[in-house]
Order: sequence, then structure tokens, then C-alpha cells
Amino acid sequence: MDAISLMMEEHKNIKRVLKVIRKLCIKILNKEEIELDVFNKIIDFVKNYADKHHHNKEEEVLFKKISEELGEKIKNGPIYGMLAEHDMGRLYILNLESALEKVRKGDEDSKVDIIANAISYTDLLNRHIDKEDNAIYKFGEKNLSKEAIIEVEEKCREIEKSAANRDIQNKYMKIIEELEEISKY
Ligand SMILES: [Fe+2]
Ligand SMILES: [Fe+2]
Repeated sequence: MDAISLMMEEHKNIKRVLKVIRKLCIKILNKEEIELDVFNKIIDFVKNYADKHHHNKEEEVLFKKISEELGEKIKNGPIYGMLAEHDMGRLYILNLESALEKVRKGDEDSKVDIIANAISYTDLLNRHIDKEDNAIYKFGEKNLSKEAIIEVEEKCREIEKSAANRDIQNKYMKIIEELEEISKY
């Protein structure tokens, strides 16, 4: 699979977890017990799959190449926008972790911060992914030189190989399935 198609598949995987997050927030609204362990799994997925595995390929390979090859306007415009959204996502997750910690210690009011940050994250990421799928990735595919595309492919292949050696892809596919199963009830 080519690098951009693979990253679009990863978007689908990330969106599956965004749906789970929304379901869990609805459970909190309905005053169901918060399963903190489930949130720990979500945070693990977001940090290590969505961010470290997926965003890293964008930041260090694809977006880097687009910025280098397609000029300052693209680098300081749409690419800067995407990187700023990655950072915004990290902030929501940091706030979510801190809210979870407070609830764990008995602060019931912090449930509202769980919902606020979790839903803000899902909204941000859903829109972010749509922009990448429909605009940025397509722009890159269309405008990057053949050499640049080959370089992106090679670098992504290496990253995938090193991740597979650590079982990253399999581990997080299993976590997605587990999370979907848990959030059914
Ligand atoms: Fe991104
Ligand atoms: Fe992405």
C-alpha cells in the first residue's frame, strides 16, 4: 500500500476510536459509572498510535517534504495549520488526563472537564482528518515531484517496518476492537 493510502486507512482507524470516545462521554452524561481503565486505553491509543505513529509520519515525512518542496506559502499556511491542530489535540488530551486524575481522586465536578476535552478532541480530529483526506494529502500527491514521492514512500516504509517489529499496528488494531466491544454496552 502506498504511504498516503496507508495514512488514510489510519484515519479510518482513528475515527473508530473517536466514535468510542463520544459514546463514553454520553455514558458519563447518563450518570453511568466511568470506566477509568477504558479511558486509559483511549489515552494510550491517542498518544501512541494517533500521535506517535500517525502524526509522526505527517510531521517528519509527508508534511516536511511538502514544506520543503512546495514553498513558504504552503509551509506557513495549510501545513502550519495542520501542525497547530496536532498541538491543540495534545493539549486536549493533557487536560483530559488531568480531569481523569481529579475524578479518580473523588472530584465529581471534573467529569465536566472529561466531557469537554474529550468531545473537543473528537471534533478537532474529525475535522482535521477530513481536511487532510480531502485537501492536504491530495494536494501533496498532485504536486510533489516523483523523487519526493519516492522519498516519502521509502521513509514511511521504514517507519512501518520498525513499528511492526514492536507490534504497534497489531497492538492498536486489537485495542480498537476491544474499545468498540466495550462501548457497545
Ligand atoms: Fe494530521
Ligand atoms: Fe492525519
